[in-house]
Amino acid sequence: MLWEILHHKNLQAYYNLLEVLEKRIPDPNLKDYESRLIHSMYLLSENLARKKGMRIGKDGSIEPTAIFIGHHNIEIGDNVIIGSYCNLRAVDEKIIIGNNVLIGQLVSIIGANHICKAKNVLINAQGVESKKIIIHDDVWIGSNSLILPGVTIGEGGVVAGGSVVMDNVEPYHIVGGVPSKVIGKRSDA
Ligand SMILES: CC(C)(COP(=O)(O)OP(=O)(O)OC[C@H]1O[C@@H](n2cnc3c(N)ncnc32)[C@H](O)[C@@H]1OP(=O)(O)O)[C@@H](O)C(=O)NCCC(=O)NCCS
Repeated sequence: MLWEILHHKNLQAYYNLLEVLEKRIPDPNLKDYESRLIHSMYLLSENLARKKGMRIGKDGSIEPTAIFIGHHNIEIGDNVIIGSYCNLRAVDEKIIIGNNVLIGQLVSIIGANHICKAKNVLINAQGVESKKIIIHDDVWIGSNSLILPGVTIGEGGVVAGGSVVMDNVEPYHIVGGVPSKVIGKRSDA
């Protein structure tokens, strides 16, 4: 039904459906249908994530194409932006994201590794090892970066686009590259 509505451009029907689904009316300040449609999709994806057990603060924005695994182990603070096609996977340990964090597009935050050391046992049969990931307040993670299990990014840290972060990032440090190294530090304006 949703597919039919979207592909026949019956946007009013789509809004009616969303109002039923979300029990709320899309933001009336957004005047045109396209803005209201996009806004509704954001609300819908955020509400679905909440329903699945993810803790999400207020005033943030989650692109509808972001993927989450292990919702009950993911905690997101206030005013956090998660860009398109991000991939957050928390298996047995938490992914904790503070307040005012910006996560660009196509960022992967992966809380577990497949155990793969034994060559005579299928990787599939060796299980996984999970480690907590903590991203503190005021962090910016550039697009296409990969944050590996166990990493903590200190307050105010910046991860340059396309980085693979294996080690902790000190507060207000800027890291970049594969594997990431310190490429700069933030200073007072
Ligand atoms: C990290 C970033 C902000 C740095 O910008 P900048 O301050 O203008 O930095 P510069 O271009 O002066 O580069 C400074 C150093 O960092 C290195 N560097 C910059 N970006 C890098 C990257 N993505 N990966 C690895 N190294 C990088 C440069 O090579 C340079 O090294 P050098 O001093 O040895 O020559 C920027 O390069 C970046 O990656 N932005 C991400 C953009 C993005 O993903 N936006 C998504 C929207 S949320």
